[in-house]
Amino acid sequence: MNEHLQAQLDDYRRLIEIAAELSSHLDLSSLLVRITEAARDITDAEAASILLYDEGTRELYFQTATNIDEPTMRGLVVPLEGSIAGWVLRNQQAVRVQDAHTDPRYYGEVARTVSYDTRSLLAVPMMTKNRIVGVLEALNKKGDEGFTESDEHLLNVLAGQAAIAIENTRLFQQFDLISEFVHELRTPLASLSTATYLLMRPEISPEQRNEIIQNLHKETLRLSQLASAFLDLSRLESGRVQFEMQPCDLTTLIEEVVSLMKARAEEEQVQLRTEIPADLPPLWGDSNRLKQVLINLVSNAIKYNHRGGQVTIRAAAQGEEIHIQVEDTGLGIPPEAMPHLFEKFYRVKSTETHAQGTGLGLAITRQIVEAHGGRIRVDSQVGKGSVFTVCLPREHKT
Ligand SMILES: Nc1ncnc2c1ncn2[C@@H]1O[C@H](COP(=O)(O)OP(=O)(O)O)[C@@H](O)[C@H]1O
Ligand SMILES: [Mg+2]
Repeated sequence: MNEHLQAQLDDYRRLIEIAAELSSHLDLSSLLVRITEAARDITDAEAASILLYDEGTRELYFQTATNIDEPTMRGLVVPLEGSIAGWVLRNQQAVRVQDAHTDPRYYGEVARTVSYDTRSLLAVPMMTKNRIVGVLEALNKKGDEGFTESDEHLLNVLAGQAAIAIENTRLFQQFDLISEFVHELRTPLASLSTATYLLMRPEISPEQRNEIIQNLHKETLRLSQLASAFLDLSRLESGRVQFEMQPCDLTTLIEEVVSLMKARAEEEQVQLRTEIPADLPPLWGDSNRLKQVLINLVSNAIKYNHRGGQVTIRAAAQGEEIHIQVEDTGLGIPPEAMPHLFEKFYRVKSTETHAQGTGLGLAITRQIVEAHGGRIRVDSQVGKGSVFTVCLPREHKT
């Protein structure tokens, strides 16, 4: 057998091995890492990267690369017009260039941001039968000759397998989410079914009947809250939610939240207070989403409190950030619960019956805060109370 044919056969053997391996990865990030490594190795390149296409925002963004670390890469969007990757995506066709700098489509911004110099480049579309998933790129062929036609062919085959693996993983994650939701539905559905069964019994008294109806009402309300909160969270998690970022007046926002929550606080005999400096600078963010964060934190602070307790909302500028605190004099959170607080559906066992809830509020809160480039933390002492602190950047970070 001639050498050329032997080399080709070796390449295809490697591709088949990689394909088998790709289909066994179930979490998206490790799958993407494996794809970029395979792309780099199979084409003898210095580096490789994956850009994923978001159908919702119609944006192409860097997801994984063998030569760039994650914090540098996060949120790096490549324009559809005026970039090689964008061209590959729009035309569903490979591009192979010897010197990227001389290509009119080359988008230098990324190179500047990650300080990596691209010379030769091979970019292929990642497509399944009916969907374009993204673009797979190999950068800087080792040696001087640049990428070959055979490299292009190999990378195309790999990209096809990668696209299917990525699609499957995404479907699997959606399936995970659905099973979790169905699992959470069981308890409220069981209590609804018990309640209706009891209502059908002829021997119950009018008082009992009334009590059961009250319970039915509460449970159905909770179910519908659960459904909309879950929908909101899954949209936030998938990154499909658009934020309307603009300068926000936090003082006004806090006042709105206080007037919204006043009745609830009075019902629970909890006193609501604010501590806001007069010269609080504006904040860059989505005011509706930030309001949602405040409502979640304040409603928890009221719910998990004692009668006669207090809730204090504070805001202050701290260097480049604004810190917002919601402090309560309530039940507090046991140390072993702390690491789980922001997980979806998590509720502290010891206080579960104290107030109704879905266990989704803090998960949603964290998603919103992090989408603003901020952080949230909590300090708490059982029996004394808790302080939730949200730190948000004042200026828009790019
Ligand atoms: N201020 C607080 N004080 C004490 N426990 C809290 C407080 N905020 C949240 N928690 C605990 O964290 C859990 C998760 O909160 P959250 O996600 O808002 O869900 P929910 O309020 O629907 O139960 C709550 O069930 C409660 O156990
Ligand atoms: Mg809550």
